[in-house]
Amino acid sequence: MKFLGIETSCDDTCVFFSSSEGIFFNKIYRQFYIHKKFKGVVPNIAVGEHFFGLNFLLNCNFFYKFSFFFISYTKYPGLFTSLYIGINFSNFLSLFYCVSSLGVHHLEGHVLSIFLTFKFFSYPYITLLISGGHTYLLYVRNFSCYILIGSTLDDSVGESFDKISCFLNFGYPGGFQVENFSAINSNLLKFFQIIHYCIGFNFSFSGLKTYIKNVFFFIYNFSSCYFSLCTVFQNNIINLLLFKTVLCLHYCDVKNLVIVGGCASNFFLCKNFSFFLKHYNISVFVSDLIFCTDNAAMIALVGKFYFLTKKINIFLLDVCYSSTLYNF
Ligand code: KG4
Ligand code: ZN
Repeated sequence: MKFLGIETSCDDTCVFFSSSEGIFFNKIYRQFYIHKKFKGVVPNIAVGEHFFGLNFLLNCNFFYKFSFFFISYTKYPGLFTSLYIGINFSNFLSLFYCVSSLGVHHLEGHVLSIFLTFKFFSYPYITLLISGGHTYLLYVRNFSCYILIGSTLDDSVGESFDKISCFLNFGYPGGFQVENFSAINSNLLKFFQIIHYCIGFNFSFSGLKTYIKNVFFFIYNFSSCYFSLCTVFQNNIINLLLFKTVLCLHYCDVKNLVIVGGCASNFFLCKNFSFFLKHYNISVFVSDLIFCTDNAAMIALVGKFYFLTKKINIFLLDVCYSSTLYNF
């Protein structure tokens, strides 16, 4: 069986194609250089670029060569206009080539993306999902059985990185830039430890953001201020995530932690998690870099899992997303 995955939830057009022999095709058409000047994703521009990207990646030659497959596409959540392109494109392919298609939940893709790197990874595990749109702590008991333990009360981790980056004029998307600039001043951590008050397993990042902005206005004259603020910000985000994750691992009595989502590509964050959690006998797993950020491989994988297990596609995270029965 050959599997095709299409992901267009935000600003990256991703296509993945695999067969039982392995990966054939895993391509991403990135748009961030277009949205950069607007300091965020512009939905109307994203639509046009997705349309171009899908046509560019999936040319006729592709279908001529690999004619029989099962299609998975991102159905929810994301920018409605961007999702719309991927959903329509996939449904058209499905009708035209008479093959089955399945709309999958983007976050389920992130949660299971660890299986793209560690094929025989075992359940249960705790997932720390840190992306541009979401911040979740999930107990993954089994395939299609996810229990939400904590989430953010305001901004997501990626969003906070992006906002701070734009604020300091480092551009959008900002995670990578903030990480790079923090590396210059990584020893500053001990001087700026902010205490976070947030009850339970939930996160809150808006206070930290305001703190950074206030400090910026006070010590604006210092040239090293930009780098120091990046360090302070990143270290505090890591501390907060670590604190809640340890609580969650302890509460669920699970020894495996999986970090997924775009922010999992932050080397400093993952290094600190591994270093700290090994004292608690907890193993930290992170996917290959290409599978951390949005990609179609994780979408194809979810479709494949549903196809092989013949389960009903329900994602428990979102109550509005009611069960849909697909006829294979
Ligand atoms: O998972 P993703 O590609 O898209 C969503 O599903 O949202 O995540 C994108 C987010 C962006 O906000 C970006 O700033 C952040 O991941 N990101 C990072 C790093 N690389 C990307 N955040 C922190 N450190 C990084 N190295
Ligand atoms: Zn994502």
